[in-house]
Amino acid sequence: IFGNNITVRPATITKTRPNTIKVTASFKVAILGAAGGIGQPLSLLVKMSPLVSDLHLYDIANVKGVAADLSHCNTPSKVRDFTGATELPNCLQDIDIVVIPAGVPRKPGMTRDDLFNINASIVKTLVEAVADNCPNAFIHVISNPVNSTVPIAAEILKQKGVYNPKKLFGVTTLDVVRANTFVSQKKNLKLIDVDVPVIGGHAGITILPLLSKTKPRVSFSDEEVAELTGRIQNGGTEVVEAKAGAGSATLSMAYAAARFLESCLRALDGDGDVYECAFVESEVTELPFFASRVKIGKDGVEAVIGGDLEGLTEFEKKGLEALKGELQGSIEKGVAFANK
Ligand code: NAD
Ligand code: LMR
Repeated sequence: IFGNNITVRPATITKTRPNTIKVTASFKVAILGAAGGIGQPLSLLVKMSPLVSDLHLYDIANVKGVAADLSHCNTPSKVRDFTGATELPNCLQDIDIVVIPAGVPRKPGMTRDDLFNINASIVKTLVEAVADNCPNAFIHVISNPVNSTVPIAAEILKQKGVYNPKKLFGVTTLDVVRANTFVSQKKNLKLIDVDVPVIGGHAGITILPLLSKTKPRVSFSDEEVAELTGRIQNGGTEVVEAKAGAGSATLSMAYAAARFLESCLRALDGDGDVYECAFVESEVTELPFFASRVKIGKDGVEAVIGGDLEGLTEFEKKGLEALKGELQGSIEKGVAFANK
């Protein structure tokens, strides 16, 4: 259901009767900000995962009802709710993957960086608790501005002496999901086959789709490249404007976050063939964090795939050079905030 990158690994499945499969649910997931616009549909999608045994939902308010509601679904995971800072440590005990969509969303006219003042503190506080209670968990940061909140998380984890760069991910899957959708519509391709790597960061021009690396191979005119690139870069704003003050992408984001989570769960479960784009600590450019395809394994990032940056078109090369200044500034802003 999450598109072309998802396959069910035969080894995790036991046939019990003809047409019946049994998948062992064994991973514990916590969602911080679970009562929000992303948090609620994401919690539902995670509740549907056969790989999840425990689903911990945390928010500062309104999470009891969400958890009660979800807990009636007859899927394997056990749902528990946690409200407020005093319950956060319990929420995080023994957790394998923490997903963080807590924070305020954009309104029309705002940039993601305009959310920095509120969301930086929220992410800092939550990551401190993660460091204290489940330092070995994978951390998926959704809260914007991702280009700054991920460096903030890294600095907090360093201050606590538990930073593992292989386990900290900025979730940029929505950019890939949008790119795949828009390209398949434009070129009349079967959606399930389309895969477009999106590199850089997660804001405006820092979102750089590599259309020349689209699978299956497909050619684009210069006009198509310019139009598709612009639409992918502004996909978030398209939704913010359509919602007209009622928030930003929530449903497509929940879908994208669930796809990324499911990929990480498969990696934890031993699948040796899991690749996703994500914003991670990186050496593929001179920037300390960069989104690109990464291979994910049981211990987190196994390899950052730099190969996608070779053989770029002139348009992509220019886009790559153009994004570096803004991305560097956002990274430095996050680092400075965490260390002030
Ligand atoms: P929302 O306002 O609907 O939900 C946010 C939730 O976070 C609320 O339930 C709120 O109570 C909770 N929250 C606030 N402070 C908290 C704290 N200290 N601890 C725990 N929970 C807290 O917003 P949303 O639409 O769900 O968006 C959430 C964030 O995700 C925003 O920053 C938005 O910009 C970002 N986002 C990122 C992407 C991406 O691609 N990475 C996509 C869409 C949205
Ligand atoms: C998105 O890409 O939809 C999110 O980052 C939310 C936003 O503010 O655009």
